[in-house]
Amino acid sequence: MNFGPVLTPDGTSARLDATLAWWLLLGGAALFALLLALLLRGVFSRARPLRPGLWVLGGGVLLPLVVLGALGSYGLRDLAGPAFAPSTRALVAIDAKPWWWQIRLIDPAGGADLVLANELVLPVGRPVRLALTSHSLIHSLWVPALAGKMDLIPGHINHLTLQADRPGTWRGPCAEFCGIAHARMVLNVVALPPPQYEAWLRQQRQDAAPPRTPAQ
Ligand code: CUA
Repeated sequence: MNFGPVLTPDGTSARLDATLAWWLLLGGAALFALLLALLLRGVFSRARPLRPGLWVLGGGVLLPLVVLGALGSYGLRDLAGPAFAPSTRALVAIDAKPWWWQIRLIDPAGGADLVLANELVLPVGRPVRLALTSHSLIHSLWVPALAGKMDLIPGHINHLTLQADRPGTWRGPCAEFCGIAHARMVLNVVALPPPQYEAWLRQQRQDAAPPRTPAQ
């Protein structure tokens, strides 16, 4: 069954988010079932009422403490997780323009940057740290299959690390309303096996072929 990119993740960070989503769904379903059982008991049973003070303390104080504590610590683990790890230098800078994505691949050897539009190519299985900014409006990058959202804010640089587990192509729509062409502002993310990625990079770094003169 296909639950969509959020619940069928293809990246390390998205997997943490999907696990949290499943726990929320299962926990919510369990609490709903418990409340329904208590409601049915209250309506149909002639047994003695349960001790109200105990339920207020248990359901109103203890249960939220345990549930929110567990969710909070899981969320902190996610925040310290792969999407936000500051371990590597960002070699990809994304500048959100109205209404397209400018991708700048920085050469670690100090060569010229490679500037591309609307397509981010990643090597499979390697974390790629992105430096995200904007010089006009606030945008938000969201590739649901790979990671959660991150805003691109004028005058500020946010970081996000993407890692794809398999070769593939995913859509990364702009997730913050930014004007007339917001709905068309889509980043295509392509993950290639490392040898193919290196070949792609070499090919991109070559000079463009000179235009052919049409035959007279
Ligand atoms: Cu950019 Cu919405």
